[in-house]
Amino acid sequence: MMWDEEGKEVRMRDKCVPYLHIPITLGNLLKQQIMEFPDGEHAAKLLKAQTHIWNHIFNFINSMSLKCAVELGIPDIIHNYGQPMPLSNLIASLPIHPSKTHCIFRLMRILIHSGFFSQHNVTQNQLEIEYVLTDASMLLLKNNPLSVTPFLHAMLDPILINPWNQFSTWFQNGDSTPFETVHGMLFWDYAGREPTLNHSFNDAMASDARLVTSLVIEKCKGVFNGLESLVDVGGGTGTLAKAIAKSFPQLECIVFDLPHVVDGLQGTDNLKYVAGDMFKEIPSADAIVLKWILHDWSDEACMNILKKCKEAITRKGKEGKVIIIDMVMDNEKRDDEYVETQLFFDMLMMVLVTGKERTRKEWDKLISSVGFNSYKITPILGLRSVIEIYP
Ligand SMILES: C[S@@+](CC[C@H](N)C(=O)[O-])C[C@H]1O[C@@H](n2cnc3c(N)ncnc32)[C@H](O)[C@@H]1O
Repeated sequence: MMWDEEGKEVRMRDKCVPYLHIPITLGNLLKQQIMEFPDGEHAAKLLKAQTHIWNHIFNFINSMSLKCAVELGIPDIIHNYGQPMPLSNLIASLPIHPSKTHCIFRLMRILIHSGFFSQHNVTQNQLEIEYVLTDASMLLLKNNPLSVTPFLHAMLDPILINPWNQFSTWFQNGDSTPFETVHGMLFWDYAGREPTLNHSFNDAMASDARLVTSLVIEKCKGVFNGLESLVDVGGGTGTLAKAIAKSFPQLECIVFDLPHVVDGLQGTDNLKYVAGDMFKEIPSADAIVLKWILHDWSDEACMNILKKCKEAITRKGKEGKVIIIDMVMDNEKRDDEYVETQLFFDMLMMVLVTGKERTRKEWDKLISSVGFNSYKITPILGLRSVIEIYP
């Protein structure tokens, strides 16, 4: 909408550029603004703003191109080739229709730009371009024990993507999440009813837990010293607890999660699976692990979970601790990708579940509101930290 000097609405088709006497269209408006600043400064600003908007409109193309490359198996094909792989060989190895072969160069070009592959040689002949993996695509290899691929598949599944299309609708209705707006139920209920989502989500969590576990056991051995028992609350299919149980054979470990996650899973000598609801009761132990749990929930729900944790670690009279693995959104100057990825996760928690990522101040408030005595934040897991809290 446009207004005249007296604040009355002016319809676009009624308005003319004053000195050119031509009707305003958006194109003319743009020209007018450019001509008012002959030094070109305004034009540059305008066009930069346009680029910024386009870039954000099409941000999803980065995710979808990556998803496509992983579905086609490109990282594994290049890896298995054993040396820089020419485009012609890559095309010949791909399960694609002959009419699409010329598109692979373009798919690879954007993925080089986004850091998933790099070009090994300089050549004028497109078909001779050789590709190699980067650190990021190494993490997408199927056989890499730390592969992030299951996480990619789960997060980019239409079941999780569709709620974003109802984001603004959700702001105007009473649903608890856009996920509920689209699917008619809460995320955890949906996972309990739909085995496909349940499995893909559990696999995604297990893949993340493998990566985190390797770092936690290597870098934070001290966190588990002196403990005799531990419960991994919301521990999924048990990846983290299994690794802890293996590294600390004296430690009795329990993986505690909803029945649809743990039913039928086999424990080991010092690890067992227990089905239950963390809002009702958590088994007693010296330590409770909460990895990627509290960010799924509102402050109120987190207070309830932490109260149950407090009961569980003090029930036997002995005081233990709660070990949280989650993000701490800090204000320290970090690089753009770090900050943006934390913000992405915060939005993801809003759209899929009822949670949020928390700043140091918010963690402080939450922890002290439950009456815990002290806590220690160790920021050693990239975007995430280990937070130990004591009763
Ligand atoms: C984001 S996942 C984290 C899984 C695992 N801790 C990890 O990081 O790999 C959250 C877990 O909480 C579990 N969960 C949700 N509601 C729960 C409840 N009321 N009681 C116990 N576990 C619950 C889910 O089933 C899921 O496994």
